[in-house]
Amino acid sequence: MEMIKTEDLTKQYGRLFALKGLNLSLSEGDLFGFIGPNGSGKTTTMKILATLLQPTWGEAYICGLSIYTRPKEIRRQIGFMPDFFGVYDDMKVIEYLEFFASAYRIRGAARKKVCDDVLELVDLGYKREALVTSLSRGMTQRLGLARVLLHDPAVLLLDEPASGLDPRARIEMRELLKRLGQRGKTIMVSSHILPELADICNKVGIIERGELLVNAEVNEVMKKVRDRPVLVVELLEPAGGAPGRSADDALRFLSDQPEVESADLKKGQIAVTVKKGVTLDAYAELLPRLIAEGFRIRSFREEEINLETAFMALTKGMTA
Ligand SMILES: Nc1ncnc2c1ncn2[C@@H]1O[C@H](COP(=O)(O)OP(=O)(O)OP(=O)(O)O)[C@@H](O)[C@H]1O
Ligand SMILES: [Mg+2]
Repeated sequence: MEMIKTEDLTKQYGRLFALKGLNLSLSEGDLFGFIGPNGSGKTTTMKILATLLQPTWGEAYICGLSIYTRPKEIRRQIGFMPDFFGVYDDMKVIEYLEFFASAYRIRGAARKKVCDDVLELVDLGYKREALVTSLSRGMTQRLGLARVLLHDPAVLLLDEPASGLDPRARIEMRELLKRLGQRGKTIMVSSHILPELADICNKVGIIERGELLVNAEVNEVMKKVRDRPVLVVELLEPAGGAPGRSADDALRFLSDQPEVESADLKKGQIAVTVKKGVTLDAYAELLPRLIAEGFRIRSFREEEINLETAFMALTKGMTA
């Protein structure tokens, strides 16, 4: 089922297009990473989907419900976590959640249970009796997430939940999102940085200046960045003054192999790009050949894709 769908969604502020003809479609269980720099239109999109902001034109549906005609029903289906949200002074964590649970008309024993459940889920059970103002930024973000889970929404719109968190808290937030994804929630989560989301999301969209530049499955995006594997070979120094067989020799030898398009030596590592269409199976042949030639191999592996580089490559020139 289509959980989020937008058609030509556009928002103008005067002459500025905060959002320009956005077309998105997310299915049940999708974890969509919405990536873009400051001012690219992420918050605008999420606020429109959360029915808090009217688009200038275009359509958006949540669970098949139009934002124009069914906003009340949509609000029951979504959990929107804004990038900054206030917490109230002099309120304990549990009181804060109970307050919002009652706003969702959850009462009595059910309310107690749901509050305990979401606290457990975000690992804040031990802060139950703490004042909300005493929580760290990471804990506050997790509390914010707990709050939007109270009414068990099918769709989560999370605006930069990891911003301002330290590296460890970021990893915890990622794990939490993964867990929610596994529970079948459809999640749209925004961030400035692709690497942060690429390993937990199944789809990504990259937006700049209101325009969606990339919208694809994570696997597809990775393929676009690199259409074939790059092999990295590291050699041990020749044993005890043995002749030849240096990294330069290996470079020459590898360059001459029929599967190889190019080989470069950088910091003692040889990066080998194979020809288009060469499979992993075929390039595995290179290892025994190197050994047969008397090279001493320290490592032989496929180079990992650097997501930072991938992001730059994907958006390069697109916004010029
Ligand atoms: N109320 C407003 N009036 C005028 N312009 C606005 C308004 N709200 C947003 N904008 C503009 O719309 C554009 C998109 O803003 P938006 O907040 O959606 O970006 P964002 O991707 O969420 O950025 P950030 O990463 O900084 O949160 C920006 O150029 C912003 O200045
Ligand atoms: Mg924003």
